[in-house]
Amino acid sequence: MKRPGPKARPEDANRQTSAELGPTQHWDPERYARNARFVADLGAPLLTLLDAKPGERVLDLGCGDGHLSRTIAASGAEVLAVDASAEQIAAARDAGVEARVADGEKLEFDSEFDAVFSNAALHWMTQADAVVAGVARALKPGGRFVAEMGGAGNVARIVNALVAGFDRRGLDGAAAVPWYFPDADEYGAKLRRHGFTVESCEIIPRMTALPGAMADWLATFAETFTHRLPPAEREAYVAEVVAALAPDLRDSQGNWHADYRRLRFVARKTLSPDGLASPPAAA
Ligand SMILES: C[S@@+](CC[C@H](N)C(=O)[O-])C[C@H]1O[C@@H](n2cnc3c(N)ncnc32)[C@H](O)[C@@H]1O
Repeated sequence: MKRPGPKARPEDANRQTSAELGPTQHWDPERYARNARFVADLGAPLLTLLDAKPGERVLDLGCGDGHLSRTIAASGAEVLAVDASAEQIAAARDAGVEARVADGEKLEFDSEFDAVFSNAALHWMTQADAVVAGVARALKPGGRFVAEMGGAGNVARIVNALVAGFDRRGLDGAAAVPWYFPDADEYGAKLRRHGFTVESCEIIPRMTALPGAMADWLATFAETFTHRLPPAEREAYVAEVVAALAPDLRDSQGNWHADYRRLRFVARKTLSPDGLASPPAAA
């Protein structure tokens, strides 16, 4: 069986929808806060790029438990946070965020937002053209799309170890990869196709210290692999993956790292969906 690199899965047209992928990732806000708060914390540079202003309307796409949505709202912007997970949305509402369940691949907003913000969520949305088209529709003319997601080569060592564990069992590991990790050229071209002017779009290698063990990272983010296996086999599989990763991702003090590579971009809606030039947003 061929072992995929991080770009091995075909993009968009041939790509399975989330529903077709089989067991899907489930988001437990308490587990997310415990094991993955670093994800939002490392979104700080993106908030600076967003530079939300009082009175602006901002959509936080794939908001999770709303940690960053709250920070954006603290700037005086009016934030609507959306996420596909009802559990994450409940946690965001508990934190005082205006939040609603919505699928990023089927956004229904129309010229309502000054900015769409997204941190660490777009790579979970496999129908990327549908996402970018929906964001373009949601923005007012001249509005900005400011986002960071997993980029080409993101967590490649982890992906390879997860897939290799499936290969050893005669299972299709490539089919369990839930992520879309594009490079800057590919995503930049997609943004332009949907009427955006790309102001910046770059890959940022970011080896990231984890707050806990690799097993916690896998429990938080890799359910499309583990939940394809019978419950009795999961512990052994995770132990195998952890052992395979230790030489590269655990340091001499026993601390774990993840080999993140982010794709960060700022794009501005300059064409309407019918290809007409958009006037800049009023100051
Ligand atoms: C890693 S979390 C990031 C959450 C938050 N933005 C942060 O920085 O902590 C990814 C989030 O994307 C959401 N997500 C995945 N697929 C989605 C989709 N199709 N539509 C909307 N949200 C989605 C998940 O429910 C999850 O809350």
